[in-house]
Amino acid sequence: MRTISIVNQKGGCGKTTTTVNLAGALAADGFAVLVVDMDPQAHASLALGVEPDDLEENLYEVLVDPTGASKLSRIILNACPGIDLAPAGIVLSALEQKLASENHEARTERLSAALSSLQTAYDFVLIDCPPAVSLLTFNALRASQEVIVPLETSSFAVDGVQKLLETIALLMDRVGHSLSVRVLPTLYDGRTRYARETLGEIRELFKELCFDSVVRLNVKLREAAQKGVPINLYAPKANGSLDYAAVAMEVALGAPKDVTAAIAENEALETQSAREIVIEYRDSEAGDVRIAGDFNGWVPDRDVLSRVEAQGRTRVWVKVLRLPPGTYQYRYFVDGRWRVDPANQDISAGPMGQTNSVLHVR
Ligand SMILES: Nc1ncnc2c1ncn2[C@@H]1O[C@H](COP(=O)(O)OP(=O)(O)OP(=O)(O)O)[C@@H](O)[C@H]1O
Ligand SMILES: [Mg+2]
Repeated sequence: MRTISIVNQKGGCGKTTTTVNLAGALAADGFAVLVVDMDPQAHASLALGVEPDDLEENLYEVLVDPTGASKLSRIILNACPGIDLAPAGIVLSALEQKLASENHEARTERLSAALSSLQTAYDFVLIDCPPAVSLLTFNALRASQEVIVPLETSSFAVDGVQKLLETIALLMDRVGHSLSVRVLPTLYDGRTRYARETLGEIRELFKELCFDSVVRLNVKLREAAQKGVPINLYAPKANGSLDYAAVAMEVALGAPKDVTAAIAENEALETQSAREIVIEYRDSEAGDVRIAGDFNGWVPDRDVLSRVEAQGRTRVWVKVLRLPPGTYQYRYFVDGRWRVDPANQDISAGPMGQTNSVLHVR
């Protein structure tokens, strides 16, 4: 049994759509799938044709009570061919407060305990998470070995993903089990240049942690949700159906790598674009001090944050550079004249025979 959480604290990025339609595609491939709806909004339940208000019991009963694990089989219903559902209900939003007095350990292992008590064997358990890093999400992650992060390819979707990966790593530390993470580009509109560029950025940022498949924008996905069935049962030839079939194939092929590697890789990339270097130039006579180097095309002060401070008669020019790791040559441009950095002993001959200061960014 592979348990996969569909997680992103950002709302509307396609978590529920991914959960339901990946379930549909896996079921069509002959796998037995259980969808666990951990979102009080119960959108996954609705998208599988189940009206939460008609049910007497839902996941709340399973999670609220320390002995509730055994109730899981009781609340599970068959939603579509090959797909069972553990439905949500709005009461789930009260769970966090209800369990506030219990320790973290006890509160976060409820779903995991319930799933391990299941008699029926599923090939896949897909957990749809709410758009928050909440107790419900922690329960889902604890119960999972894998995570899929849907990422919208049409906005500043990449922001916050590093934070999410860190949260997942933190949780892994606490529970002592590892999670594999993969990012799935969704809501992709290939007609716009912006979306194409964003997809390129996502691929560059996440590399092999990114699915090869992309879920295109397809109105049939929305319609299928309204009909209460996965898209393969509603419009099997629509792009949405083909895309989720491709995602299912990638999922069925196996789990990706561990989140720690993902974070290390991502951090390396982040620092590559965001390392901040602060250097100072002190002088009691100079009026205008700029910096130029191979980091800014030798254009004095281009892309450099600069400020001047007074220290008695001496003025201090503080230069802030944002540089990827590497070795750079530079010089100051003081009142219209080039000069090396007097505070830096590391110098080198430049290509034109001039002497430059050298900066190593690690
Ligand atoms: N590929 C797509 N093409 C067209 N519409 C889509 C696509 N994916 C999702 N949608 C629609 O976008 C909306 C948001 O998607 P969805 O509910 O799956 O996001 P979510 O991340 O689960 O949101 P929430 O954070 O509120 O739980 C829904 O109306 C859904 O039908
Ligand atoms: Mg949702």
